[in-house]
Amino acid sequence: MPSDDKPLWLLTGNSNKFREASSILAPFGITIRHLKRSKVEVQDPRLENIARFGLKTALENHQGPLLVEDSGIFIKALSGFPGPYSSFVYETIGLRGILDMLRRHSDRRAYFQCTVAFGSSGLDAHLFTGKVAGKISRRVVGIKGFGYDPIFIPDGSTKTFGQTSSTFKNSHSHRAKAFQKFAKWYSSGSTYALKSGWVREP
Ligand code: IMP
Repeated sequence: MPSDDKPLWLLTGNSNKFREASSILAPFGITIRHLKRSKVEVQDPRLENIARFGLKTALENHQGPLLVEDSGIFIKALSGFPGPYSSFVYETIGLRGILDMLRRHSDRRAYFQCTVAFGSSGLDAHLFTGKVAGKISRRVVGIKGFGYDPIFIPDGSTKTFGQTSSTFKNSHSHRAKAFQKFAKWYSSGSTYALKSGWVREP
């Protein structure tokens, strides 16, 4: 019988990420609860390691099952910068600082990555990664979404994520791809998922 004894939590201090993940998982019949605090971030060039470490430390105080994610934007002309430093760069030089750095660059290619780590105390983490390719706009455009959305134009679109609906972003984004992979894996009835003790909420 479904029960809420072992709900699934997403640890994030960012309510936008929680809202997006909830919408992406809903069509799979997966409900998540918000564990509203920031993850402990290790400095590492790979988002996979940051998400894995964030999950491991979170599980010291929370039994799980738990999801922790890390995301970033990687800009080709800047050799992948800001990547794992996306949060710091956003809070310091911001979107205008990024546009300034790219002023003389015609190669505007970039991608977003999101890596989700899923686990429960006593079990190793399972990781799911999603990427979306696109380019950096010349100006800050749009008021939707959050973070770098107003300067990122996904391939196949002429608009930034800041100009598109949440429905569009939640079916094309790096976060959509990562959480959909997780949902498909979980729904396929993996024994690991069962061992995590997570019971779907009614
Ligand atoms: P973190 O995963 O919380 O470390 O976030 C890294 C940085 O990337 C933050 O500044 C976020 O605002 C930004 N970011 C993460 N996901 C997205 C997204 O979906 N759109 C735009 N910016 C994002």
